[in-house]
Amino acid sequence: MTSARTIRIFDTTLRDGEQSPGASMNLTEKMEIAQALQQLGVDVIEAGFPIASPGDFASVREIAATIRGAIVCGLARCNDADIDRAWEALRGAERPRIHVFLATSSIHREFKLRMTEDEVVARAVAGVQRARQLCADVEFSPEDAARTELDFLCRVVEAAIDAGATTVNIPDTVGYATPQQMHRVISTLRERVRGIDRAVISVHCHDDLGLAVANSLAAVEAGAGQVECTINGLGERAGNCSLEEVVMALRTRRDHYGCETRIATQKLVPTSRLVATITGIQVPRNKAIVGRNAFAHEAGIHQDGMLKERSTYEIIRPEDVGLDRTDLVLGKHSGRAALADRAKALGYQLTPEQLQSLFDRFKVLADRKKEIYDGDIAALCEDQFTALPERFTLVGYDLTCSSGQPPRVRLRVAQGEEESSVEVNVGDGPIDGIFLAIEKLTGVVTVCRDFRVQAVTVGKDAQAEVTVELQPAGAPLGSQIARGRGVSTDSLEASAKAFLAAVNRVVLGGQSRLHPQQG
Ligand code: KIV
Ligand code: ZN
Repeated sequence: MTSARTIRIFDTTLRDGEQSPGASMNLTEKMEIAQALQQLGVDVIEAGFPIASPGDFASVREIAATIRGAIVCGLARCNDADIDRAWEALRGAERPRIHVFLATSSIHREFKLRMTEDEVVARAVAGVQRARQLCADVEFSPEDAARTELDFLCRVVEAAIDAGATTVNIPDTVGYATPQQMHRVISTLRERVRGIDRAVISVHCHDDLGLAVANSLAAVEAGAGQVECTINGLGERAGNCSLEEVVMALRTRRDHYGCETRIATQKLVPTSRLVATITGIQVPRNKAIVGRNAFAHEAGIHQDGMLKERSTYEIIRPEDVGLDRTDLVLGKHSGRAALADRAKALGYQLTPEQLQSLFDRFKVLADRKKEIYDGDIAALCEDQFTALPERFTLVGYDLTCSSGQPPRVRLRVAQGEEESSVEVNVGDGPIDGIFLAIEKLTGVVTVCRDFRVQAVTVGKDAQAEVTVELQPAGAPLGSQIARGRGVSTDSLEASAKAFLAAVNRVVLGGQSRLHPQQG
């Protein structure tokens, strides 16, 4: 095989991904994702925007102190306060990077920054220079580069490299570019910018027109050496370039792109599942690479072809992305070793104590449902190991309802050692009744922005997974959303757990934070 160029994978799930509505994560969750990204083999982890809030600062600092191998990056606008704060969070990292950005397009210059071209160049240079005084690895992004006049873009990029930027990132901030255009922008920078070889060219594409992956690949073809992306394509609005798609496109079409990455592709599906569970943002069934149907062959003619020769209809082997196709189903007589084996195959490394606790919960579940599938085991692991801090815990409920009548709900909740209960006779159905009972008992009044139920596996006795998104009543429409998840064979219990988890987030979270592109 001919030698291939190695493309750096810069993951921004914890920064741009977290800017997806409803995707905010706490420190424990971010640490878990950062560790999964390290195992996945990403080159750079953008851990957050340290000046945004004390919580963001703490998580970047913790990730910086823990991650080994990968570069840990923090975002900053081109001003001293942002850059100094980013460095404070990053200085403990084995390989720190400061990422400074400033908008360059005429629309942003005129309406957002109210700055001339010269002022923008001067601010960019000052930002990069300050960052370079603190850190040897500095990335510069001209925000909205894809809508920036090419001549001016070349000028800013050249000035940033002269000021010390070691990576220059070209964002298509609003997802407006086309593949041909992206190719032209990168080629032009390579042709015209003096000193371009002193920096790595990166690309950062949003998916507003569904072109983020295509645009990133076009940039790679034109010579970009780094792709910024997120797990499951999470991100602002329609999201960012999806890591799993761009990585598998480069790998599967190595003949065409002549490039490779350092990603351990067998970890793609477990990492995707982890991020979906933690953020509560489910992957569509038909999503390339990690969707549940990505490798399902329904049509008879396809199945026939697959049985004769897999390559007739399969361009990627499921096991290469970590989809361990197994028909192994566990049940109440299965032992600890079989459970440990499945959990390991699903990507969960358990300590003996964690395995014991998982086994206890597995036995309870096996009493409720006959067949335990991989999805059930993954749900048990997620429930147990990504549990959030709780003020209120569900103890139980009694419920009677009949059509056309408000439900009668008695709900019991514990707060530490203390248990309290409430009875309500309102609501337009059992779930509404349970939610109203929780609000009455906790005193937290909310607006429900989303409510979803889905089966974790097949079968009428499948566990229900419920996700709920809430905002405190009276909060402005765009304000932070609290998310909760609950899993149970009883869908009402799963709903109660999910609602209570979101209420816990409302009472325990609630920090305000700054959005990087606000000003
Ligand atoms: O989309 C964008 O322009 C960004 C920058 C901060 C790199 O996320
Ligand atoms: Zn972005």
